[in-house]
Amino acid sequence: MNSQKKTALVTGANQGIGKAIAKKLAENGIQIIGTSTSQKGVEKINQYLKNDGYGLILNLKNSKSIIQGIRKISQNKSIDILINNAGIKEDNLLIKMTEREWNNVIKINLTSIFYLVKQVLQSMIKKRYGRIITIGSVIGQIGNKGQVNYSSSKSGLIGFHKSLALEVASKGITVNIVSPGLIKTDFIKNLNVIQKKKYLSQIPMKRLGNPIEIAESVMFLVSEKSSYITGHTLHVNGGMFMV
Ligand SMILES: NC(=O)c1ccc[n+]([C@@H]2O[C@H](COP(=O)([O-])OP(=O)(O)OC[C@H]3O[C@@H](n4cnc5c(N)ncnc54)[C@H](OP(=O)(O)O)[C@@H]3O)[C@@H](O)[C@H]2O)c1
Repeated sequence: MNSQKKTALVTGANQGIGKAIAKKLAENGIQIIGTSTSQKGVEKINQYLKNDGYGLILNLKNSKSIIQGIRKISQNKSIDILINNAGIKEDNLLIKMTEREWNNVIKINLTSIFYLVKQVLQSMIKKRYGRIITIGSVIGQIGNKGQVNYSSSKSGLIGFHKSLALEVASKGITVNIVSPGLIKTDFIKNLNVIQKKKYLSQIPMKRLGNPIEIAESVMFLVSEKSSYITGHTLHVNGGMFMV
């Protein structure tokens, strides 16, 4: 790892949006620590990052894993940029939703951010520099049948990021959300043709987004071009939702 370069931690970097973000940041001279829940995922990350960083196992379900993982990284490197990308959905109508389905989604999509940010904030404050960017979702704004857990987790992020942005605005740290609409990844692979058609009818651009279109927005918020933007949610959704 090059000590002159900035370092980004990207969660869920083995596939989908996280992989596109990690590759885009690496192309822009940032070294990456990318996480996955499996060894196979870590190998995939190492394969595409080559000399631009490395993969690490991290399970966001487990707060101890987060704390230990970041402590391990911090022995050699301090994190300048935190990209909270990893996320899950476990859909069910509320009437049938189990406590486990509720807790899993809230834990991984929302509570993990509390632990991740706490672990990196001290060193960002010391350096008087930091970028914290989290991947939200249009569902956090508009809701969706069968997703009260997912929608709550993603809208909870908005309050978290606005409040944190206020706490650290004077310390050189910006805190923002990129909120995708429907993006072509494994996350939506189980949608059937009828569901896809229904979603497409709600997207003025009449197409799904590509992971690179999220990665470009994240890169903008990482770059100096966005130095005066904080506490913001950037919607990247083909016109599906406008503020
Ligand atoms: N695709 C969409 O349409 C869409 C729309 C709005 C928002 N989003 C958001 O975008 C983010 C990325 O999603 P994606 O579309 O790229 O989905 P994806 O291809 O399914 O990727 C999800 C990522 O999250 C990681 N992950 C899952 N459980 C984890 C856990 N317990 N601990 C740590 N990492 C975990 C996965 O790692 P492993 O594979 O190693 O388990 C994987 O890298 C998510 O936050 C999602 O909510 C996606």
